Amino acid sequence: MALKIKNLLDLTELGRDDIGFILDTAGSMKQINQRAIKKVPTLKGKTQINLFFEPSTRTRTSFEIAGKRLSADVINFTASASSLTKGETVIDTVKNLEAMAPDIFVIRHQAAGVPEMIARRTPVPIVNAGDGAHAHPTQALLDLFSVREKLGRLEGLKVTIVGDVANSRVARSDLQGFITMGAEVTVCGPPSLIPVGIEKMGVRVVYDLDRALADADVIMMLRIQLERGAGGRFPSLREYSIRYGLNLRRLERTRPEAIVMHPGPINRGVELSPEVADGPRSIILDQVENGVAVRMALLYLLCGGGDEALS
Ligand code: CP
Repeated sequence: MALKIKNLLDLTELGRDDIGFILDTAGSMKQINQRAIKKVPTLKGKTQINLFFEPSTRTRTSFEIAGKRLSADVINFTASASSLTKGETVIDTVKNLEAMAPDIFVIRHQAAGVPEMIARRTPVPIVNAGDGAHAHPTQALLDLFSVREKLGRLEGLKVTIVGDVANSRVARSDLQGFITMGAEVTVCGPPSLIPVGIEKMGVRVVYDLDRALADADVIMMLRIQLERGAGGRFPSLREYSIRYGLNLRRLERTRPEAIVMHPGPINRGVELSPEVADGPRSIILDQVENGVAVRMALLYLLCGGGDEALS
């Protein structure tokens, strides 16, 4: 099987079989990451350029590690140290980098739609590493991988996503991914942070957190996106935390098998108490670990790694 897409811009073009295939490939990649020597020659001779126009810790680092573990030549482009500061446009920047014959671009941008705009102007495959509030498909795939790994399946699971759904590209991509894989999704948060009409996507909206968590198998907590103006949509962070934060007392009222997730970065003491973030039901660092394997899988599938690749 091969992926039928050239670019990964969001999850809308991926069906259940495609996602299953990516997760299975990531499983093979995870085995490489558990070896003493975590490197294979799969992408030797390929060049991966990471273009991050917006800050990142997890996504940027894991894409770099993923490329290096597959033996690609990985170049990190930093907007603040580039000729963008001298007035060069994003498209001119991309066309100049394209002239150096890369095999894949990994792009994060603060504005929704930039990866797609670039994809229309270059033959080089594009992976969207997060664009504005639009999509974060590799985060969703690593979240799906992590849940499947922990709970053994995705179909029929009850997933509750809590917080700033309106401004979250992770929420948007997670919704698509979990629904495609047959999970039942509930969203919860202050009404001002839940998009109007989101029920049309096939999700349940519940504004009371305890009720939203009561039957959840998966609890996905989100950060308030203060950089996107979310802070003005509720009275105070303290009040938000009381009504929508997950602390130990609240977690104890949920199903004992339910797992706690967060895409990071966490604002400790706001959406998650430290005891929950670091507790036994949290799989937050598993998500980070799995991010490397999932991104290796995507680089491999989109860059056309050969069959000898995983040996
Ligand atoms: N989850 C995520 O995208 O984190 P970073 O912003 O640190 O990449």
